Amino acid sequence: MWRVRPLASLRPLLAGRPGWPPARAASSTNISAFMPEAAAFAGVRDYPALKQLSLRQAERFWEALARARLSWISPFHTVSDCDLARGSIRWFEGGRLNVSVNCIDRHVHTSPDKVALIWERDEPGAEVKITYRHLLEVTCRVANTLKRQGVRKGDRVTIYMPASPIAVASMLACARIGAVHTVVFAGFSAEALADRIQDAQSETVITTNQAVRGGRIIELKKTVDQAVKMCPSVKRVLVAKRTENEVPMSNIDIPLEEEMMREEAVCDPVAMESEDLLFLLYTSGSTGKPKGMVHTQAGYLLYTSLTHRYVFDYRDGDVFGCVADIGWITGHSYVVYGPLCNGGTTVLFESTPVYPNPGRYWEMVERLKINQFYGAPTAIRLLLKYGDEWVKSHDRSSLKILGSVGEPINSEAWDWYYRVVGDGRCPVVDTWWQTETGGICIAPCPAERDAEIIPAMVMRPFFGIDPVLMDDQGRRLMGNNTAGSLCIAQPWPGMARTIYNDHDRFITTYFKPYPNHFFTGDGAYRSEKGYYRITGRLDDVINVSGHRLGTAEIEGAVNQHRVVAESAAIGCAHEIKGEASYVFIVLKDGVDMTEHVIREELKGIVSQKIAKYAVPDYIQIVKRLPKTRSGKIMRRVLRKIVERKLDELGDLTTLDDHTAIQEIVAGHKEMLKKEAKE
Ligand code: WTA
Repeated sequence: MWRVRPLASLRPLLAGRPGWPPARAASSTNISAFMPEAAAFAGVRDYPALKQLSLRQAERFWEALARARLSWISPFHTVSDCDLARGSIRWFEGGRLNVSVNCIDRHVHTSPDKVALIWERDEPGAEVKITYRHLLEVTCRVANTLKRQGVRKGDRVTIYMPASPIAVASMLACARIGAVHTVVFAGFSAEALADRIQDAQSETVITTNQAVRGGRIIELKKTVDQAVKMCPSVKRVLVAKRTENEVPMSNIDIPLEEEMMREEAVCDPVAMESEDLLFLLYTSGSTGKPKGMVHTQAGYLLYTSLTHRYVFDYRDGDVFGCVADIGWITGHSYVVYGPLCNGGTTVLFESTPVYPNPGRYWEMVERLKINQFYGAPTAIRLLLKYGDEWVKSHDRSSLKILGSVGEPINSEAWDWYYRVVGDGRCPVVDTWWQTETGGICIAPCPAERDAEIIPAMVMRPFFGIDPVLMDDQGRRLMGNNTAGSLCIAQPWPGMARTIYNDHDRFITTYFKPYPNHFFTGDGAYRSEKGYYRITGRLDDVINVSGHRLGTAEIEGAVNQHRVVAESAAIGCAHEIKGEASYVFIVLKDGVDMTEHVIREELKGIVSQKIAKYAVPDYIQIVKRLPKTRSGKIMRRVLRKIVERKLDELGDLTTLDDHTAIQEIVAGHKEMLKKEAKE
């Protein structure tokens, strides 16, 4: 049952709770043992000095790391050329490289039989291990298939697949031939997929016949068929087989495995410029139209590999278990690019946290001997409810670090993760970042000297990241123990370069609000000691189970129902999901349907237009919405009503009709009462 729970508040945190390091932790660090590249920085002997250098002499820092950590076909001549005011961000110009070579070939030279991918299939105990040699072979065959089908450098390829080796090989095959992949989370509906295919103008789609999740079959190809009908640009659909079941194939469908087995297992990599496009990834913003965030080659790869190495203290031989789907940025950066660039072993998780039972994650940790586990707070909150036995019955001694991403982790979940899952022995790293930032920006770095970690705080910025807080007037807040809009003052190599086909929106969204700064859209608090805590989104984006969703997208979907005159969507606190979506609906006159039917149909329409996860938890039918005299919906008032903070409704002088509020408050109470009975 739902209850109102305030979103993260700013009260001083959790004094006396267990944190990191435990009192006995050793704290001496030899800086070049910590980061070998630091040997190039004369005079830098300790961790704080290295951090300082990464900010004050950012070019020197990134130059040394880019030269040492990436394999270049030709070296870059300019470290960075950025102008935040114009949203112009360029790194490592003049350099040429190939991302798939960095992620595969160079490791094949040193350790061909090392396991690159562990595909943790839906059925527990049916994992498949893929070595670097094997991954190279599959990637080359897919790359050759794409080339034979006419895919060229710069062409967009939409990938709509569950986490699997063939999906990773498809991403890397695009990188090998210079095509731009755009992975769409395989839970999105046909219409959402079609929108993204059209925006990217993809001629090629790669999918699987079916997907398998939580023991159920999902008809993935059918969804692609529906989407492709709406997309005249699509010329070919490559279909891999996840199951043995036959699905209808049309004349543009190509069986991927059959085709690729005819191709050679070698494929020359294309030399890409540092700033050529690597991928687009769509994410929600304040308007109804998702943004195709653009990431490029060298800077993104360097940033993901460096954060993967240091935030998780990833060491050679470790098994890295990030359970995010490849359809999100976390899957791109910490299932695929970061770990593979580092020659690591990375887990591809196809299942759910509760299949076949709530011990799935920990049974997997035991079986695969996972060293770093990286997941989302929503899953932790869910598992916590099932009790400790599901965790304790599995051997978790392999675990060294636990990571959290996607939304604020509340202190109860943090504490359980640390104490029960990690037996109080593994640091929990709460990592703040975004699709736009490419990689982790603020997180504890447990290998740091004296790495203090306070529960439920994202703590300290990563190398080269300069977070600042701004007040309402756009002034920089200098002191500590203060809260404001979170911005980043300096460019870093992993940041997005533009929004595909909409550079103006890129500038307006990220660089106009606070000139010469990247604006994140989040609020943050900086503690007395200078540590950060994220307080949540400041815009009309909500975060449902760690997935971003624009309230305008939800409204756009429900407004298409014939009975809806207008609507307003907001986020409200939810025990498991973090936030749920709550939609207020005004009906057209003369509607002759029961409220129950209307609600069910509206849920159906959101699922059909966006995705199942976007379906509103609450739909309240109201006579009118609170509006200003100029007709703007006052969402702030709706939020306060749902949070039951009626004494905080704020300034209502612009409200045109005060009876609207009383009616909504009464309706809200009524709805909760009904819910409680059900
Ligand atoms: C939120 C996911 C609090 C935040 C990597 C951000 C977080 C949005 C955290 C980005 C965290 C992400 N603590 N909030 N550790 N990590 N967020 O683009 O609001 O899917 O702006 O990237 O998630 O979501 P995205």
